[in-house]
Amino acid sequence: MKQVRVRFSQEGVDVQVPMGTTLRDAARLAGAALYSGIFKVDNCHGHGRCGECRLVVLSGMGRLSAEAEREARAGRPRGARQAVRRGNDPARDERLACQTRVWGDVSVWTRARDGHPLQASS
Ligand code: FES
Repeated sequence: MKQVRVRFSQEGVDVQVPMGTTLRDAARLAGAALYSGIFKVDNCHGHGRCGECRLVVLSGMGRLSAEAEREARAGRPRGARQAVRRGNDPARDERLACQTRVWGDVSVWTRARDGHPLQASS
């Protein structure tokens, strides 16, 4: 099966995985942490419900599996869920690692809840 590259930019690690691998499995292979704080143990373990594995796609969004509405809403505050329903998602570059399959080379930033890599820190 064809291999694709997943770059975990925050960790500075690249891994090669078979096409169709989830970003969650790729993160495990890379040793990249997907969860912060208490959510390292208190998460839905890949069932697409908690939203805690959310990451930012830096490049290659078109080389990922299609996003379902359920994924866009998982773990979001009520206001954000309503925005998704209206088609106005404020975080279009975020995906759930456990629900997203890789079909080509991509670059991602883990633990999106801790901060977006493109937001200035001061
Ligand atoms: S692990 Fe809970 S949504 Fe991915």
